[in-house]
Amino acid sequence: MNKITAAITAVGKYVPDYVLTNKELETMVETNDEWITTRTGIKERRILKEEGAGTSYMAIKAAEDLIAKNNINPEEIDAVIVATATPDMLVAATAVYVATEIGATNAFAYDLQAACSSFLYGMSTVSSYIESGRYKKVLLIGADKMSSIIDYTDRATCIIFGDGAGAVLFEPNTEGLGFQDEHLRSDGVGREFLKIDAGGSILPPSEETIKNRKHYVHQEGRTVFKFAVSNMADVAEKVLVKNNLTKETVDWLVPHQANKRIIEATANRIGLDDEKVMMNIHRYGNTTSATLPLLLADYEKELKKGDNLIFAAFGGGFTWGAIYLTWAYTK
Ligand code: UT7
Repeated sequence: MNKITAAITAVGKYVPDYVLTNKELETMVETNDEWITTRTGIKERRILKEEGAGTSYMAIKAAEDLIAKNNINPEEIDAVIVATATPDMLVAATAVYVATEIGATNAFAYDLQAACSSFLYGMSTVSSYIESGRYKKVLLIGADKMSSIIDYTDRATCIIFGDGAGAVLFEPNTEGLGFQDEHLRSDGVGREFLKIDAGGSILPPSEETIKNRKHYVHQEGRTVFKFAVSNMADVAEKVLVKNNLTKETVDWLVPHQANKRIIEATANRIGLDDEKVMMNIHRYGNTTSATLPLLLADYEKELKKGDNLIFAAFGGGFTWGAIYLTWAYTK
């Protein structure tokens, strides 16, 4: 019997309608379009403005897009995992609500949190479920409402992040397509440089924490940038070498969209030309857990069965890693 591999068989996406441009940010903090564009590559990002809507709102829409486009029966889905750093609530997993709302009535569901590497780590987890033979259809959604944890008076963070969601379905494959290899890493030294101080078990929310704006993301950008540049490139290169891949045999780099300069540094290290590098940071900014599936949705029509994809991400914690996956279908 052929070995079971875990292939991506369907993709969906959702981004909110509201476009927050660099020009509008100029009216909110002391910044300018030229600085943001040259330092990050971002021109605009989407913001979820609907009253009372959280991350699940976008996750549901991304899943529904996938289900509708691919004629999937949601009752056949075995598990729904939502990769997110901004769950609807701290307790009561977002994924459980999402699964119920999309009609995945036979699924179990939970959230997975590894900051900007959440989706990448989720790919590893979900692939193992499929490879084990225990589950046949697992829906992995990357979704974040970053606008709910961003301080729009802090120009160091508010220019970077945006809201969005992407969904992928993993299914067994017997042709050897799908998930091939990974190199995942983490280092707790990172929590000083990218974090939300309050709202967790160390510093529960209080009037004091709100007054001092400790419930928002704080990032030492320059330090995170340095770690991201060297580590994302390192793991991508390791996965290439281990799998005897070259710049000629890699068809696509699917990099986390945090900063155009980090993406370019990773591509340069493995010698990839621009046309093999997926990029949509100019339109969405950094959507944290949603960057990788949003790229897949935006580039789906260009992907061909058998293409070699290298995913790479770096995020808070620190967490980072690279995954090698072969694409399983041509649209
Ligand atoms: O996805 C999770 C992981 N996160 C990341 O990977 C993000 C990594 N970090 C970055 O992408 C970059 O560090 C940033 C985009 C956040 C910042 O870019 P930078 O080139 O590292 O700038 P910097 O923080 O070193 O600041 C350079 C200058 C400073 O002024 P001085 O001290 O040189 O006078 C800042 O005050 O730019 C200033 N600055 C700004 N100026 C205009 C910082 N933010 C802004 C701004 N507009 N929005």
